[in-house]
Amino acid sequence: METGAVTVGIVGGTGDLGAGLARRLTRAGFRVVIGSRHESQAQGAAETVKAMGSEAGWSTLQVSGASNLDAATAADIVFVTVPFSAHSVTLEGIVDAVQDKVVVDVTVPLVPPKVARVQLPEGGSAGQIAQSILGDNVRVVSALQNVAAAHLNGDEPIDCDVLVTGNNRDARQWVIDILAAIDVRGFHAGMINNAAAAEALTSVLININKQYKTHAGIRLTGIS
Ligand SMILES: NC(=O)c1ccc[n+]([C@@H]2O[C@H](COP(=O)([O-])OP(=O)(O)OC[C@H]3O[C@@H](n4cnc5c(N)ncnc54)[C@H](OP(=O)(O)O)[C@@H]3O)[C@@H](O)[C@H]2O)c1
Repeated sequence: METGAVTVGIVGGTGDLGAGLARRLTRAGFRVVIGSRHESQAQGAAETVKAMGSEAGWSTLQVSGASNLDAATAADIVFVTVPFSAHSVTLEGIVDAVQDKVVVDVTVPLVPPKVARVQLPEGGSAGQIAQSILGDNVRVVSALQNVAAAHLNGDEPIDCDVLVTGNNRDARQWVIDILAAIDVRGFHAGMINNAAAAEALTSVLININKQYKTHAGIRLTGIS
C-alpha cells in the first residue's frame, strides 16, 4: 500500500487509543489528521507525534490536528476513537462528512463502573449502532477492541490479533491492510453483527488483566 496517498482521520484522536494509532500511522507514512472537540488540543497532540517522530528519525511526519468535523472531512478513511458515552453524539456530528467513506469504529460499549462485565447495548453492539447512525452509504468496519492502547503506544509489532468485522469485504480488507502497515494482524471476522463478539471479549480481557496484571490480547490459531 502506498501509505503516503491515504489520509486517515482520527476522531477523538487525543485519547489513549487515538494517540497510539496516530503515532503508528504517522510512522508508517500515512497522512494523519488528529481530531478533537478542541482544535488546539488536536494540534498539541499532532505536535507530540511530530516531536516523537523527529527524535526517532521517522522518514515522514505528515500529521496535523483539527476539529473532529474537519478531520473527518479531510480523511479518506476515518477512525472513531471516543468512549461509548460519546459514541452516538460524535457520529451524529460527522455523519455528512463521512458519506461514501469507510469509518472504523474501535468503540467498546463499556458501562462503568462494571467494565469487566459484558453489557452490550440495546442496538446489539457499538458497530451496529454506528452503521445505523451513519447509514448504508458508509462502510462501517469494527476493529481493535481487543488491543490495549498501551501496546499501540509502543514501537514493537503488536502481539495479538484483531477481529475485523463489517458488511463490506473490500472495506474490511482495506482496514486489514492499514493494520498490517502498522504491525497489527487483522482478520476478516464477518458482518458488522459480529462486532458484538469482539466488543464483549474486551470485558473478558479486562477481567483477565486485573487477575494477571497484564494487557492480554487474543491470538487466532490454525491460520498460516
Ligand atoms: N484505551 C484502550 O486500551 C482501548 C482499547 C481498545 C478499544 N478502546 C476503545 O477506544 C475508544 C477510545 O478509548 P480511549 O481510552 O482512547 O478513550 P479516552 O482517552 O477516554 O477518550 C478519547 C477521546 O474522546 C474524546 N471524548 C471524551 N469524552 C468525550 C465526550 N463526552 N464527547 C465527545 N468526545 C469525548 C476526547 O477527545 P477531546 O477531548 O480531544 O475531544 C478523548 O481524548 C473507546 O471507545 C474504547 O472503548 C480503548
